[in-house]
Amino acid sequence: MSDAVSGVLALAVRLAREAGAIQRERYETSFEIASKSTAIDLVTEVDRACERHIVEVLRRERPRDDVLAEEGGAHADGGAEWRWVIDPLDGTVNYAHGYPCFCVSIGVERGGIRTVAAVYDPLRDQLFEAVRGGGARRNGRAIRVSRERELGRALLATGFAYDVRDSKRDNLDLLGRAVKRAGGVRRDGSAALDLCYVACGRFDGFWELKLHAWDVAAGLLVLEEAGGRSSDLAGAPAPASGAEIVASNGAIHAELLAVLAGS
Ligand code: IPD
Ligand code: CA
Ligand code: CA
Repeated sequence: MSDAVSGVLALAVRLAREAGAIQRERYETSFEIASKSTAIDLVTEVDRACERHIVEVLRRERPRDDVLAEEGGAHADGGAEWRWVIDPLDGTVNYAHGYPCFCVSIGVERGGIRTVAAVYDPLRDQLFEAVRGGGARRNGRAIRVSRERELGRALLATGFAYDVRDSKRDNLDLLGRAVKRAGGVRRDGSAALDLCYVACGRFDGFWELKLHAWDVAAGLLVLEEAGGRSSDLAGAPAPASGAEIVASNGAIHAELLAVLAGS
């Protein structure tokens, strides 16, 4: 690993841990909760505090890099070699309810290519990290996707966008088909952790519509480096925007795509 990449990895890991410490400290305390795009799209004071911390440090230590962060703390001239794509708290609805499933997700692109990832679950003290070409690890140990070949035995995960009450593209038709055919389907509420869980074999597959770049920037690299496969619903490369993501251990990918498509 080059010095440049290892420096970025060290900073991504440090920031994920520091923001995670803020989440751990304020978990199940009282904090302000507001809504954003719809009534069920929440943001808490803690999301903002985590993002503020990460963005301030980046501004100081990596002033030339572009930053895209969910709660608007972005600064980007565009065209920088490195771009940090940050979800300061993935799993906000869980966090607001005290449901213990959330994380910090930091993905870093170099020249537009996913290069470094750090996802930190502060309650379980689990850090997922990856470097392009260097494999994926959980708390320092290499991880691999599962070997499950049968969708009928596979444990899948999915999620729903915040426009679910009003949108016709609500994922419920895909959910119905998957529930009938898979070993089980979960909705845990943190897409970044869902992807890391596929990467380490806890889930065999995952899909979701209408995610955003910050939900998937880190998790997709962790998955790829753990030997997994990602695509859109048609099997083409997964869009970095997160608009349509199917992720799996590779072995069940074709069958999962077929079931989601209704065939
Ligand atoms: C959400 C979570 C959830 C997914 C939503 C995302 P947020 O992110 O990842 O699992 O189903 O689509 O928006 O709002 O908690 O950062
Ligand atoms: Ca998110
Ligand atoms: Ca978030």
